[in-house]
Amino acid sequence: MEKETVVWAKDAFENIIKKMSFVYERSKDKIPYTTINGVHDDHSVNDIGWWTNGFWGGIMWQLYIATGEECYKKTAIENEKKLDKLFLNYKLLDHDNGFKWLPTAVANYRITGDEESKNRGILAADNLAGRFNVNGEFIRAWNDWDGDNIDRRGWAIIDCMMNLPLLYWASETTNDPRYRHVAIKHANKAQKHFVRENGSVKHIVEFDVETGKEIRDYGGQGYRDGSSWTRGQSWGIYGFALSYDHTKDIEYLKTAEKIADNFIQNIPESGLIPVDFDQPKEVTWEDSTAAAIAACGMLKISEFKECSDKDKYFNTALKLLKTLTDCRVNLNEKEDDLLLKCTAAYNDKIHDFSIIYGDYFYIEAICKLNGKYINIW
Ligand code: GLY
Repeated sequence: MEKETVVWAKDAFENIIKKMSFVYERSKDKIPYTTINGVHDDHSVNDIGWWTNGFWGGIMWQLYIATGEECYKKTAIENEKKLDKLFLNYKLLDHDNGFKWLPTAVANYRITGDEESKNRGILAADNLAGRFNVNGEFIRAWNDWDGDNIDRRGWAIIDCMMNLPLLYWASETTNDPRYRHVAIKHANKAQKHFVRENGSVKHIVEFDVETGKEIRDYGGQGYRDGSSWTRGQSWGIYGFALSYDHTKDIEYLKTAEKIADNFIQNIPESGLIPVDFDQPKEVTWEDSTAAAIAACGMLKISEFKECSDKDKYFNTALKLLKTLTDCRVNLNEKEDDLLLKCTAAYNDKIHDFSIIYGDYFYIEAICKLNGKYINIW
């Protein structure tokens, strides 16, 4: 890294460590998703199945590796154990098992070798593999939701690329290739059906549940059908880079680069990322999570010796992270939110708030730049 980069990235790292020590004291018994008036909410009691409930544990592990402070390890393990309730209710398990158990149980196993954590990770992987539609060759995303009659049996979403590393890990850990086979089949299907010619990606694709034929796609959490939801692009960049990492199939790296190139072409002058690259010009809603995740993905791409242009991806990641650091990071120690202006979905009523996975991926990237981090994925 250039000297100038080292200075800001080191400052950003130290600022995270300091701020999070205050946030930790207030939030250690919670599993936060967002903040209300600067105070973390808590999903540990009434919404334990929520897909983001592994990220607080992931932040704790990153802070533990960064500082060596035992308190972070303790809270990470508590977060992991709170998720055990999910194993007793299949409706709370879905394709996001990767997001829930990679940053908690699998991270714990990688760091401490704990057998109970390994057990949790394998159970989560078994359940994830069980969502594979054999004829269709895709992993079903969500379960049916109470309150609507939408048939989601044939729905797969780009986000799932980030859950595949749970399957790769399970194969590496058990020496049983079945999990990897499922992950590869899904990744191949996603490569063919989600990535457009120009490198942008679709959020949701519906397949025929008997034949696997593509039926249609949906805009999902983006602006509208056919648009370019920025967090979906980010999941695609990082997700395909991770499939390359685990399989060494060069086509996955090329796909990650193709999506990253489209993302790079669309980064506005400000360096701040909108919710959807196709949103109307007058709409100012942002999604800082997309910036942080894309940066993590581009850092990953730049590590591979087969990468077509390491400088391009590394420097873009730095630009995204520097912009977030200068403009969208809240260092006020009395407030729990770290990364500002995140958006869950374009068509939601609320935008531009703090979201825990935004904090997580920003922390992961800055810790990585400082060489003090655990590889979760
Ligand atoms: N995986 C759901 C989301 O990115 O909002």
